[in-house]
Amino acid sequence: MATSNRTGIASIGVQLPPLALSVEDLARIRGVDPNKFTVGLGCREIALCPEGWDAATLAVGAARRALSRWNGDLSRIGMIVVGTESAKDMSRPLSAFVAEELGLSGAIRSYEVKHACYGGTLALRQALEWRWSGAARGKAALVIASDVALYALEDGGEPTQGAGAVAFVVDEPHVAHVDVDTYAYAEPAFDFWRPVGQLFPSVQGQLSLDCYKKAAASCFREMVGDRDARSVLGEYHSASFHVPFPKMVVKAVQAVGEELGLSAEETKTFFDSKVDPTMVWNRRAGNCYTAALWLSVAHALAGRKTGEKLLAFSYGSGFGAELLSITAGELAEQGAWVADVEADLAGRTLCSAERYLELRKDHVGKK
Ligand code: CAA
Repeated sequence: MATSNRTGIASIGVQLPPLALSVEDLARIRGVDPNKFTVGLGCREIALCPEGWDAATLAVGAARRALSRWNGDLSRIGMIVVGTESAKDMSRPLSAFVAEELGLSGAIRSYEVKHACYGGTLALRQALEWRWSGAARGKAALVIASDVALYALEDGGEPTQGAGAVAFVVDEPHVAHVDVDTYAYAEPAFDFWRPVGQLFPSVQGQLSLDCYKKAAASCFREMVGDRDARSVLGEYHSASFHVPFPKMVVKAVQAVGEELGLSAEETKTFFDSKVDPTMVWNRRAGNCYTAALWLSVAHALAGRKTGEKLLAFSYGSGFGAELLSITAGELAEQGAWVADVEADLAGRTLCSAERYLELRKDHVGKK
């Protein structure tokens, strides 16, 4: 089955916070060679939430922007679902905080999805499958991936921090179709996790890289099956990956290339032409967990002609992964959501490392 005709992504909204820190400034206060963060990890800037901003604020901003570009009435929203690992409460879903701000109540299914960085993809799939199943009875879904990624001070993950949200209205596929068929892989592991009550994640760094690579290789292998890998990959204009930091994606693409029997040169060409160009906004936002893949997809979709195809590889620690195929609809080319990112980047303040430490003063000595 390729695509389901009348369901897909009807509109997109993106929200980044109004503050950022350059990883070079972070390297200075950490006494590290900045090349480790810029060349070694491929990072550039960390989007930061100032006081008063959190994952709910970002989700509301992205949702308002997606809704403003949708030609439906708010009364047609029958589902609001937020994928996040920045929950504000162990019981009350982030969707309730967002629905409150948007004035959404009534005959609506409202909930939060958690599976580390994979939660946004699961939320999107559930909304699509709800529509495909007929259970939506013609209603639309508001799907949001929103996160604030912070590590303990001086943790190895500190240069990979970030924040951001991407929202979709799932209704008619004016922006994109999403294929019904997907390729999933899961395996229980403690690669990256955050126990209840712990402020910041625990990470087994090398294990997390290995899990991500294994998941990527497995999902691409499943998708290609016994077909010719070169011609399958050739069908796609671009391939977006979950971006914890850009170098992770380089390593994952190498693992995929090896799995599919590509030469080192073919893998490099695939990465340079179809993967690297999708990470422009990720380099300015840093890791935004559930939103990271979708920020890359939003960048890749903008400007695409109707019918052009994209790949989207989602990874969430713990770990679970899924590879999706997306086809541009007629509104992709105009890429209205690019204006969100351009406005947020133009309007934000690049703060000093001292301001960053001030922002995080309550986190000193905390795990
Ligand atoms: N100049 C250039 N490069 C340098 C350098 C220098 N002066 N110094 C070091 N490097 C290079 C290293 O060689 C290394 O590159 P390679 O891996 O290609 O060899 C790179 O910089 C990083 O160096 P280290 O491995 O020593 O870095 P680290 O151990 O301090 O931290 C990390 C790396 C473990 C990934 C850490 O950033 C981390 O914990 N990140 C969070 C976990 C994560 O993002 N995992 C990804 C998979 S899990 C996932 O995807 C979910 C999620 O979103 C978190």
